[in-house]
Amino acid sequence: MMREPFDVVVRNALVATACDTFHADIGIRKGRIVQLGSDLPAGHSEIDAQGRVVTPGGVDAHCHLDQPMQAPACMADNFDSGTRSAACGGTTTVIPFAAQQKGQSLRAAVEDYHQRAEGRAHVDYAFHLIVSDPTPQVLENELPELIRQGYTSFKIYMTYDDLKLNDGQILDLLEIAKRHDAMAMIHAENADCIEWLTRRLEASGRTAPRYHAHARPMLVEREATHRAIALSELVDVPILIVHVSGRDAVEQIRNARALGMKIFAETCPQYLFLTADDLGIDDSYLGARCVCSPPPRDKSNQKVIWDGLADGLFTVFSSDHAPFRFNAPEGKKPGGGEVAFRHIPNGIPGLETRMPLLYSEGVLGGKITLNRFVELTATNPAKAYGIHPRKGSIAIGSDADLVIWEERDISLTNASLHHAVDYTPYEGMRLRAWPRLTLVNGEIIWDGERFHPRQGQGRFLHCGRPSLLPPPLPPFPGS
Ligand code: URP
Ligand code: ZN
Ligand code: ZN
Repeated sequence: MMREPFDVVVRNALVATACDTFHADIGIRKGRIVQLGSDLPAGHSEIDAQGRVVTPGGVDAHCHLDQPMQAPACMADNFDSGTRSAACGGTTTVIPFAAQQKGQSLRAAVEDYHQRAEGRAHVDYAFHLIVSDPTPQVLENELPELIRQGYTSFKIYMTYDDLKLNDGQILDLLEIAKRHDAMAMIHAENADCIEWLTRRLEASGRTAPRYHAHARPMLVEREATHRAIALSELVDVPILIVHVSGRDAVEQIRNARALGMKIFAETCPQYLFLTADDLGIDDSYLGARCVCSPPPRDKSNQKVIWDGLADGLFTVFSSDHAPFRFNAPEGKKPGGGEVAFRHIPNGIPGLETRMPLLYSEGVLGGKITLNRFVELTATNPAKAYGIHPRKGSIAIGSDADLVIWEERDISLTNASLHHAVDYTPYEGMRLRAWPRLTLVNGEIIWDGERFHPRQGQGRFLHCGRPSLLPPPLPPFPGS
């Protein structure tokens, strides 16, 4: 029987998945991968990968786009500029946050967020929820219902006045995660310690951006990570600890894993490539650009994070893209001027640079394998949030979201990026690779030089259950 020709064939690919690397042609029909093999028949459109590495498009499972903020703060990237930037850096699925304000219904937050995304996204997207007001109505009705409808993950904050929950509230939410098979993501920093330290710093006039890191030392992350693990143990439910920054939290997670607990962990580029010095070695306000929470640590902690990426401690590598312009009253200069660190919006941009940074320094720098790169940037996030194998894999039936990698020397500049932020924390960094081509649903969206818009074609993804296996027991370093 004669088959329809392929819509697209990607030829001469060195396909890398989370477990294998092999040479193949990739046949695509109706936006999906339908065949992997050699010497596939011609397609309507042909792309020659020339033996280059082809990975699944990235899944950035922690990014903030057009998230409602308290005035005057306003995020620079919406679903248009954010997903444009993502695609140019090899990310083809994003999972930002529908954030509930205190007093707001969770359903209303989700509906509002759909309106922000509708007709704007260039790539597919799903939503995590942020639960900041776990009322009986939220716990008993709204959240279980939303989970059933495909919003299967939610973030719990242990810090930030407008978002933080107490231990009892966290336990209530973890119980819902357990009962309905959802994934609870936890921002682990001790809010009271941060407030106490912040007041002391302010009382002695130490309010420059660099003191943000002094107000959030590793022990506040360690304590909250330990507590989050204990709460997860009490309820007997897996959790995923987001944006882990260094040794103290890593040790807590290693200990829990050695006991067989299902504690998953995420880290981000800022903990590999920035240090607290990037917040300033003097009182310069330029450091506000790198104010994020938890803050970047030091070189020795970068090594701890690299080790955790290599040995399986970390499950997911996300950007935590939280885009605020530096020179803007709605950004890092609230109201138009320099402010005390307490008032600087937290977060740094990184959607576009996440994959190239890890590919350059991790894979080409010999720190992680190519397969581990795929697992961390695409396969595991897709599994953790219930969109695998449609996303995060190169397999028959998966969406044809692909990245062809090109090894070349690049000096990173903000001018070359596609977000709406006026800086990158990685300005001037030398990279060794960048996507030569990004395909979304079998269509070229980035050709190595130009972005090809597909605004409004990005689809909302209803998420299923998390399908991550219990995490392996990583060896203790040195053992
Ligand atoms: O500083 C950060 N990480 N801002 C984004 C919000 C969050 O907690 O992830
Ligand atoms: Zn967070
Ligand atoms: Zn975040």
